[in-house]
Amino acid sequence: MAIWKPDLSSRVGPKYLQIVEAMAEDIATGRLPQGARLPPHRELAYQLDVSPNTTSRAYAEAVKRALLKGEVGRGTFVRLSKSDPAQAEPESLKRAASGPIDLSRNLPMPGFSERHIRRVMAEIANDAGLRSLLDYQTDTDLPHHRVAGQTWLDNCGLASGLDCIVPVVGGQHGILCVLMALLQSGDLLLAEALTYTPVLAMAARLNLQTGAVAMDGDGVMPEAFEAWCRDAKPKAFYLTPTLQAPTTVTLSEARRTRIAEIAAQYGVLLIEDDVFGPLKSDNPVPLVQIAPETTIYVTSLSKAVAPGLRVGFLKAPAKLAAALHQSVNLSVWMTPPLTLEVASRLIEDGTAAELASQQQRVARHRQRLVQDILGMAAIPSPSDGFHVWLPLPQGWRADVFSSECARLSVRVSEARSFAMNASDAPEAIRLCVSHEANEERVQRGLEIVAGVLRQKPSGSSMVI
Ligand SMILES: Cc1ncc(COP(=O)(O)O)c(C=O)c1O
Repeated sequence: MAIWKPDLSSRVGPKYLQIVEAMAEDIATGRLPQGARLPPHRELAYQLDVSPNTTSRAYAEAVKRALLKGEVGRGTFVRLSKSDPAQAEPESLKRAASGPIDLSRNLPMPGFSERHIRRVMAEIANDAGLRSLLDYQTDTDLPHHRVAGQTWLDNCGLASGLDCIVPVVGGQHGILCVLMALLQSGDLLLAEALTYTPVLAMAARLNLQTGAVAMDGDGVMPEAFEAWCRDAKPKAFYLTPTLQAPTTVTLSEARRTRIAEIAAQYGVLLIEDDVFGPLKSDNPVPLVQIAPETTIYVTSLSKAVAPGLRVGFLKAPAKLAAALHQSVNLSVWMTPPLTLEVASRLIEDGTAAELASQQQRVARHRQRLVQDILGMAAIPSPSDGFHVWLPLPQGWRADVFSSECARLSVRVSEARSFAMNASDAPEAIRLCVSHEANEERVQRGLEIVAGVLRQKPSGSSMVI
């Protein structure tokens, strides 16, 4: 292995901690394998142009965090964890180190939040406040959870009053609560033509009608939204303006403003899904900021901290908050106070924001890998976040392409699985580069996809 040299660009804080954080990331992604020998601290200091004191402090901190161990006379090594939590994971949850390479699932990189969640759970276990977390709660019993929601919204670039914040069990639950609270059977719900399809399943269950708003290369088209508003009477428009799933497009401020104007003109509620917002550092102004009285904003900790926490927040116009609280109450009684407590502590001590930055850094690194391997021509609009949108060259049909990838042991998702109307789906593929923790496997998967891209499309020539 080449000498390990951490990438410290775009990191902030004391240098020695930057080195430790970079080390933790590189261990999690496999760039620094278990058992690997670290360069002597003087050597690393020379490479990084810092003082030996700084690298020596970094190594000491990494030993304290059980990332490294020193062996007298031999050097410093990445710790082989006997109690590697991955060993204790059920087989079905392991992000496998062998077998098919999964580029189909949009999850955060694993391994960063566990240490912090363990710490916070231990704090809660020893805290007298535990008892009150174990009781039934009303919306106002534990105001510090909504205060944490306020801090999280602040991280998302939004100021909010406490009476506008509704804690929910993740973004998906938040969307369901909005639909249950504010739409009636028979109402028309609009969504982007390619969308997060669980929302369509919710709409079907609630007996809502749905309509697809057309998109172009810059995302959903305001004029298509306006046409719906003129011709039908939509009640709400669900959309993902930042790092859209699956296309990755982030809507321009001009389109956001126009959509907000149209929504206000026709009295349409906007449901702004921003679950990917924490993965983007240069977010444009959220819709809810442009149109606070007609927008419900949905955020969660799933992509930045851990999806298993199941914590999210809605920000709603104050006049709608009571109806949303009622939906939460009806569906789950209350957002579990224990997990909300874990999330609140991580938010308030800055850990959640740091974990989001860590995910952003890994995402940027992986997006560079994508560009290196697939080439800029294949990815017309490189993005942040963990998903990649790959429009296929002429002649390829997405189902044939994904079958060919699957035959070569790489899982990808076809555009059709996100389409409101399957017949409108473009011939495109979504790749996700974070489900696989190990970077070598991501690299191999992308190389296989690049190889398929170079093939002549077989069996696709019949497409009309
Ligand atoms: C666009 C979109 N919205 C919402 C969700 C659900 O997020 P959560 O885990 O917060 O429920 C997902 C999950 O992948 C998603 O892709």
